[in-house]
Amino acid sequence: MNICAVILAAGLGTRMKSKYSKVLFDVAGEPMISHVIRAVRKMEPAKIIPVVGHSKEMVIESIKKNHGDYAGFEFVVQSEQKGTGHAVMQARPALETCGDGVTFVLCGDTPLLTPELFKNLFASHVNGDYAATVLTAKVSDPKGYGRIVRNEKGYISSIIEERDASPEIKKITEINTGVYVFSTKKLLEALSKLTDNNDQHEYYLTDTIAIFNSENMNVSACLEEDSSLMMGINNRYELSVAGAIMRSLINKRHMINGVTIVDPVSTYIDAGVEIENDVTIYPGTYLHGKTKIFTGAVIGPMSYVVDSVVGENTKIFNSVVESSEIGRNVVIGPYSHLRPNTKLCDRVNIGNYVEVKKSVIGEGSKANHLTYIGDAEIGTGCNIGAGTITCNYDGVNKNKTVIADGVFIGSNTSLVAPVTIGEGALVAAGSVINKNVEPGSLAIARSPMVIKEGYMKKRSIKKADKNKDTTGA
Ligand code: UD1
Ligand code: CA
Repeated sequence: MNICAVILAAGLGTRMKSKYSKVLFDVAGEPMISHVIRAVRKMEPAKIIPVVGHSKEMVIESIKKNHGDYAGFEFVVQSEQKGTGHAVMQARPALETCGDGVTFVLCGDTPLLTPELFKNLFASHVNGDYAATVLTAKVSDPKGYGRIVRNEKGYISSIIEERDASPEIKKITEINTGVYVFSTKKLLEALSKLTDNNDQHEYYLTDTIAIFNSENMNVSACLEEDSSLMMGINNRYELSVAGAIMRSLINKRHMINGVTIVDPVSTYIDAGVEIENDVTIYPGTYLHGKTKIFTGAVIGPMSYVVDSVVGENTKIFNSVVESSEIGRNVVIGPYSHLRPNTKLCDRVNIGNYVEVKKSVIGEGSKANHLTYIGDAEIGTGCNIGAGTITCNYDGVNKNKTVIADGVFIGSNTSLVAPVTIGEGALVAAGSVINKNVEPGSLAIARSPMVIKEGYMKKRSIKKADKNKDTTGA
């Protein structure tokens, strides 16, 4: 069967009170519309037709960025937002080539929809001879949603929007989730019969239901139990509610898969994060973007990891890790910051207050205290003493520091890049190194220490004399 999907995303979303399109607001690390697309893609549609309008360039760019691997997008523009029916009308040319199949219509503002919901809806549609099947839910507070009016046979006779509803209709608690599957051919026919004869003077997609009924076609309802998954986000309060629901579902999935999450309420894991079993996550931890955590790792408390790979048995305590690759049995923190393009090989130790940027640190090397490593290449088994700074920036260019295997850098050393420290060399504490150091050498670059023997005794004699002078005057 030829399956197409139309995703409505042209509205601004006035109730968000933002200059940005509503569908771009983030839920668990991805724009709302991206979640919707991911779920509907499981139906393997031949085409996905996003209807865009407000900030359309941003919406298109965001969709392409998150779903670059799907070739079936056919973007259509609705330049004036005259309602959900009008939006689908813009997809007409794209749908006309969809042949005899079915078309899903959904909204870009329902991020919690799951592939199972689409599968159930599809199955219930093809099970009978219906012009359309509507995904519906029963909710305790139906305010703001279109109400489902059923006929004596139990089919849907119409959907009435809140603002057009009588007090009687408003009492109905079965609502339109805004997700439908239509016979493509019948949808196209009904679209040409829509009018804007309602409170908002808009073309409502929901009016197609009454049109089908007037032509003796049946519209079925697929009533789902868990209405929370179908919520449409209209304002930022609802955005936070949806975020909390999605987070708890994500956390639950990981816990079922063998991840220990000590306090799920204070653990924030994005939808795209992968975590192996026997990982432990302590409270106050954020795992964002395309992060992957291998088995045995311990993250947190209070850690922030984005777009990074964390190897087996690595520990990250109270630290920030951005776009970095971390090997096995590494220890990081507390209070350290790995900035983008950092690579830590196995068994590296990054201790307290250490910042690393765009650097590679070789196996078993240690930088345990108060250090800045930027644009550096550090070999294996090195010891970087407390307070070491790679002076990578000369005010114009960023320069590289190379430290070969087995080097010992004494505390409070400044390495003025570009500079290379050869294998096995030792740099004395407090040095300012602005020339290359040959392998195996000792480099000391600090003012020589001076000892003045007996100095303190002489000073106290001088002082006593001076005091005598003053009293004598
Ligand atoms: C819509 C339904 C309502 C349903 C609810 C579910 C209609 C008339 N009403 O109401 O029955 O209960 O969704 O969440 O369909 N859009 C466009 N172009 C437009 C107007 C809207 O692309 O001209 C898009 C919006 O960007 C949004 C979606 O359609 O993604 C839904 O629009 P919205 O204004 O949120 O509709 P609701 O009032 O929530
Ligand atoms: Ca809505």
